[in-house]
Amino acid sequence: MILVTGATGSIGRPLVRRLRASGVAFRALVRDEARGRALGCDVVVGDLDDPASIAAALRGVDQLFLNGAGAGPVDGEQPMVRQQTDAIDAARAAGVERVVKISVWHAHEGGRLAEGAHWEIEQHLKVSGLRWTVLQPNGFMQNFLTGAGSFTADRELIGAYGDARVSYIDCEDIAACAARILTRPRGQDEPGNETFILTGPQALTHSQIAERLSAAIGRTIRYRDLPPPEFAATLRAQGLPAAFADDVAALHAEVAAGSLAATASAVADLTGRAPRTFDDFLAAHRDDLRALGRARSVE
Ligand SMILES: NC(=O)c1ccc[n+]([C@@H]2O[C@H](COP(=O)([O-])OP(=O)(O)OC[C@H]3O[C@@H](n4cnc5c(N)ncnc54)[C@H](OP(=O)(O)O)[C@@H]3O)[C@@H](O)[C@H]2O)c1
Repeated sequence: MILVTGATGSIGRPLVRRLRASGVAFRALVRDEARGRALGCDVVVGDLDDPASIAAALRGVDQLFLNGAGAGPVDGEQPMVRQQTDAIDAARAAGVERVVKISVWHAHEGGRLAEGAHWEIEQHLKVSGLRWTVLQPNGFMQNFLTGAGSFTADRELIGAYGDARVSYIDCEDIAACAARILTRPRGQDEPGNETFILTGPQALTHSQIAERLSAAIGRTIRYRDLPPPEFAATLRAQGLPAAFADDVAALHAEVAAGSLAATASAVADLTGRAPRTFDDFLAAHRDDLRALGRARSVE
């Protein structure tokens, strides 16, 4: 039995679809029962902030797919670290064998935002005694749909990436890798503990992304590059806490130096096919993107 956390999110929904198709036994942990029912699978209501609910959800589970909200704009405590280390402890107590965890590419000690938080969780998992697989994806193509990419009120794409390229990945491919790992034969021949870096097949500049988004949405979107301090000030003016805005701008400066430009072979190695291109992603979400274009043009 597999427990899927983050089941309603950008990775979770396609993962649930794939696990349903494979016929493997699994249940999805959801915070909202109605949203969970829409997934069309067994669900259990729980919250990563409520360890008792996670312990109950883990009864009879042998593999945990661990994913939740990213590193949000919080002061002081980083809830993701507490939520996921508690879930790992609960998994060990419940007799779970393997945890498949969504991390982030370049997770490292002392890293900013998600990079540091995921590193802490990875360390906790690696000494837990559980078997583990860590998936370290690059930025999600879905950010340009969900708004997690940075936009101004009039839908200009903004950032401090310069003309650096980024090999964004489609969450469909992250889900395909997770499904492959969760459904492969268990037992003696099972691979050991592994970390996979997951990227898309090509790296694009944000100007190229804006051009492609414009064509898909049916309305011109420009990429406006800002110096990091100006970008941080814009994010603060949009309501983000100052320290968070500064960290986001500093991460953009690292990306501008090329930190997310490489491509990796893990998606093809695991799934047997090339990862989706940005154009594939846009084609798959044509209706959502056109609706987004229409909504913005009447605001
Ligand atoms: N976005 C990126 O570009 C990117 C890149 C690399 C790595 N990552 C990592 O990928 C992970 C997911 O990122 P995302 O924010 O983009 O995901 P997302 O698609 O917004 O999904 C988050 C999921 O976590 C669930 N969730 C949130 N808080 C929860 C809680 N307290 N208890 C139980 N479930 C909870 C949400 O459920 P509800 O439906 O109830 O809200 C949702 O299903 C993060 O760890 C992030 O650091 C993101």
